[in-house]
Amino acid sequence: MALLPILHFPDKRLHKVAKPVAAVTDRIRKLAADMAETMYDAPGVGLAATQIDVHERVVVIDVSENKDDLMVLINPEIVSLSDEQKTHEEGCLSVPGVYDEVERPATVRVRALNLEGEVHEFDAEGLLAVCVQHEIDHLNGKVFVQHLSYLKQTRLKARLRKEQRELERA
Ligand code: NI
Repeated sequence: MALLPILHFPDKRLHKVAKPVAAVTDRIRKLAADMAETMYDAPGVGLAATQIDVHERVVVIDVSENKDDLMVLINPEIVSLSDEQKTHEEGCLSVPGVYDEVERPATVRVRALNLEGEVHEFDAEGLLAVCVQHEIDHLNGKVFVQHLSYLKQTRLKARLRKEQRELERA
């Protein structure tokens, strides 16, 4: 297994749309294992392949308290979502140190392939619902801060550019 470098917003590669996985092969299983290791090391509750500059539709999630309930979602899709919306404070390994509230459907029904290439469907609520939607956004080239107001995004980009310049000078 290997730890993989995570892209940081506003890296343009975070906005590429990931391609569906054609077949769940050993290469995909190795990718998922490396992504899980990277997510646990960070630590985070979810990671999309896009964040490690692999533009294929693979997501790993573990929202359990003891970090012992890894979910690997291949070609995940939302098949239905609730009218009810919920606001949750989100963060992202690609936007370190930034947390803000995002409103999303409270519950979603998800369909994905597992590591054996079998289709499975499940209902997600609470943190898992947030996480699944956040990670599928990544596969579609969208980072959670793009749900924030234009003003917040402008301020955030200015701050990140300033931090980048300071890093370069240091
Ligand atoms: Ni994220």
